[in-house]
Amino acid sequence: MNAIKKGKLICVGTGMRMAGQVTPLALSYIETADVVVSAVPNIFTRDWIKGIAKDFICVLDHYDDCNMDGKNRGDTYRRMADTILEQVRAGKTVCAAFYGHPGIFACIAHIAIKDARSEGYGAEMLPGISAEDCLVADLGIDPGRTGMQSMEATQFMIYERRIDPSALLILWQPFLAGELSLKRFETTQARVQVLVDKLARDYPLDHEVILYEAATHPLERTRIDRLPLRELPTATMVGATTLVIPAAQALKRDQAIVDLLNALPEAPLMPLAQAA
Ligand SMILES: C[S@@+](CC[C@H](N)C(=O)[O-])C[C@H]1O[C@@H](n2cnc3c(N)ncnc32)[C@H](O)[C@@H]1O
Repeated sequence: MNAIKKGKLICVGTGMRMAGQVTPLALSYIETADVVVSAVPNIFTRDWIKGIAKDFICVLDHYDDCNMDGKNRGDTYRRMADTILEQVRAGKTVCAAFYGHPGIFACIAHIAIKDARSEGYGAEMLPGISAEDCLVADLGIDPGRTGMQSMEATQFMIYERRIDPSALLILWQPFLAGELSLKRFETTQARVQVLVDKLARDYPLDHEVILYEAATHPLERTRIDRLPLRELPTATMVGATTLVIPAAQALKRDQAIVDLLNALPEAPLMPLAQAA
């Protein structure tokens, strides 16, 4: 049996709100790891982590690679994972800290964990509070009421997706909608218009959508802007904006399935005595 090598990786999430949404377990890894490698863009959260970590490496400068010819965000994410792995290979206990949940719409932690495990190092991910968790709380939406679809805005645009307008739809990274070069960090009105036109296949143009930005510290205001779908191309969208599209249709009952279920015998799957 292969022995686990000395270095170790724990990927944690800091939540969305500085210091207030980190789990006790994630906090203890941030405080006790030999080094914290972080890609947290919020300066307050970054300074807070820096202040409590034994050693701190910020990998945000790797985004500058996108300015080089032939390089894009994919290369940046690869290099961030490589920087994390260098520390693991040096035999350290490495805590990689990401905002929100480290594994939700965030590929770096997934890449680093896969690489670390394939090289024989222990690696795990701890869950964190994501933007989606915050929007459920701030908007008072229970995803269980209609069901929920959640995907990246550009992925929705460039692939054939079957959207169910009777369920909630969450589109991530609308500020990059249709940005295919993977080099720039903004979109254009024309691209957002393409997004609106595609959404209009399933939603009326006057359907109310929500631009949501969770507050990241106590003095910041949570953004909850409601607007008709048609006005999206002229709306302000930044890196922290998530587009929330409530259901536009009532749930339609599938009567054939209901009838089938009602016709089934009442007998349980197995006798209760055996199930216990
Ligand atoms: C790369 S993903 C990171 C998601 C993060 N890992 C999480 O768990 O929420 C970036 C996208 O997350 C969403 N996001 C980031 N910060 C947010 C905030 N403060 N409020 C709402 N959504 C946010 C936006 O859709 C943004 O474009």
